[in-house]
Amino acid sequence: MAMKILVTDKIVDEGIDILKGKGYEVDERFGLSPNELLECVGAYDALIVRSATQVTREVIEAATNCKIIGRAGVTCDNIDVDAASEHGILVCNVPTSNIVSAAEHTMALMLSAAREIPAADAAMHAGKFSRDRFMGHELYEKTLAIFGLGRIGGLVAERAHAFGMRVVGFDPYCSAARASQLGVTLFDSMDEVLPIADFITVHVPRTDGTYHMFAAEQFAQMKDGVVIVNTARGGVIDEKALSDFMAAGRVFACGIDMLEAEPSAETPLAEFDRAVLTPHLGANTLEAQMRAGVNIARYVANGLEGLVVPTV
Ligand code: MLT
Repeated sequence: MAMKILVTDKIVDEGIDILKGKGYEVDERFGLSPNELLECVGAYDALIVRSATQVTREVIEAATNCKIIGRAGVTCDNIDVDAASEHGILVCNVPTSNIVSAAEHTMALMLSAAREIPAADAAMHAGKFSRDRFMGHELYEKTLAIFGLGRIGGLVAERAHAFGMRVVGFDPYCSAARASQLGVTLFDSMDEVLPIADFITVHVPRTDGTYHMFAAEQFAQMKDGVVIVNTARGGVIDEKALSDFMAAGRVFACGIDMLEAEPSAETPLAEFDRAVLTPHLGANTLEAQMRAGVNIARYVANGLEGLVVPTV
């Protein structure tokens, strides 16, 4: 009997075809409720998810036939990896699949926020040629602070240099050698970076330690007119505090791809024209999804065949 693979978040058809071509039975079931997932997961030999499906300890305990979980993306923060290991289930991801897309989306949000592009576009679509209403900011010769100098933060640094920005950073895990290779002036504390940045971008995972890492106390230390971008994870920025500082005119604009309430669009930032909001699109390019879907399919197939898999 063919082994069965459950795919609960959309991956590209090319990935599904790889699995079917190897003779696996693949069920694509999107938007399952937690209970529906618990009820059906026991029937499958492997599970493939993106970020929406929460693979909790309970799900892993119910996944009694599962040998491998594939995460078609960079992080595994929606998977209880410890529980999976305890149950002998491999967990693999595709850690470089979407990093270029995420870095490019960061730059897109930075430019959109600095030049008020969505509001200007909305005005044009409403038939208003309001040229004087919009006065943006250049990136050139501005100081960009990058919080988190991992793979994506590093790619953002490279792109920021191309715009002529000065790049500074804070990341307790980044070595002086890597910072120097990236052309980033590294600081030892957030307090040193916040007052000197014209633009701030966040590239840290969401953990207990990073929850509301940017709250009223941090916004109060920032320069007036700062632009803030978050393509990392919801909850790293306290959206209520950010809204208060936007309302007070202290923050010029923000570009936010990751909301605390995801998958809901609910946020106090929605009332501001200068809050450029996107629904977790960092990885949503054809190129990134092709890499992620095809590679995760190959890894999961390898895992089921007992071959080497780069696990997390
Ligand atoms: C990631 O962590 O790689 C992304 O959030 C993946 C996704 O968009 O599903």
